[in-house]
Amino acid sequence: MAFENVSIEKIKGFWDRRPCNIRHSEAKVGTKKYFDQVEERKYFVEPHIPDFARFSKWKGKKVLEIGCGIGTDTINFARAGAKVTAIEISQKSLDLAKKRAKIFGLQNKIKFYLANAEELSKIVPIEPYEFIYSFGVIHHTPHPEKVIKEVKKYCNQNTTVKIMIYYRYAWKVLWILLKFGESAFWNLDRLIAKHSEAATGSPVTYVYSKDQARKLLKGFKILDMRIDHIFPYSIPEYKRYQYKKVWYFRYLPKEFFRRLETHFGWHLLITAEYK
Ligand SMILES: C[S@@+](CC[C@H](N)C(=O)[O-])C[C@H]1O[C@@H](n2cnc3c(N)ncnc32)[C@H](O)[C@@H]1O
Repeated sequence: MAFENVSIEKIKGFWDRRPCNIRHSEAKVGTKKYFDQVEERKYFVEPHIPDFARFSKWKGKKVLEIGCGIGTDTINFARAGAKVTAIEISQKSLDLAKKRAKIFGLQNKIKFYLANAEELSKIVPIEPYEFIYSFGVIHHTPHPEKVIKEVKKYCNQNTTVKIMIYYRYAWKVLWILLKFGESAFWNLDRLIAKHSEAATGSPVTYVYSKDQARKLLKGFKILDMRIDHIFPYSIPEYKRYQYKKVWYFRYLPKEFFRRLETHFGWHLLITAEYK
């Protein structure tokens, strides 16, 4: 495996330097306005997330979120009435997620833990959860299979698991190859990792075919596996909070773009049960 020797400290460092989505707002970081804008922008750019997470479905249920980042989805599970446990390896991300819970008066609905998902049971008490959710996290840790092994400890017959991992045959992979690949295409795994996130240089980013995802989730019954999400915006404008599509997507009929997304999107969305 391409990244198995990367240290967890390196992962922590990368996400502490720039927590996921931290620049999704111009407002002062940590304010209510800031968090509201982060949420609005995240779900505008990634509208499939609420559909996938189905926040309201988990009302009154025990939800375990792995890799909560700055807590956008976490807050929405809690708002919908779930009893949430959220874990994160990046202290800076976790601090912001905690602050967010407090600002929205949800601090009593969420238990936060600073934890490495590969060793979850060392920190988080083992008990069954009705829903285990992890969006865009497991592919960023050196040993994803260890996370899945840990996740199983929190499952029983009634547990639903939803994870998003990156899809190997994605438009984004082709884009990375075309834009940055001329001198390093033979080391595709590292090239993808370097350019996979908003901040350059992610130390670990695995990408999965559907078969590889099935192998990762061995022991689970896959209920649904689908592909979604192509980022269509021009990056310089996007950084200025303007949503202008790049020319080749601007003129593409909506239905055709949607088809592209569901066949060559970046997000592999998996729903499974532990049976
Ligand atoms: C792309 S962000 C996604 C964050 C959040 N799920 C979201 O959708 O906004 C990936 C997150 O995974 C966390 N992460 C990576 N490896 C981890 C590990 N081994 N244990 C816990 N969290 C981890 C990172 O710190 C980072 O916050």
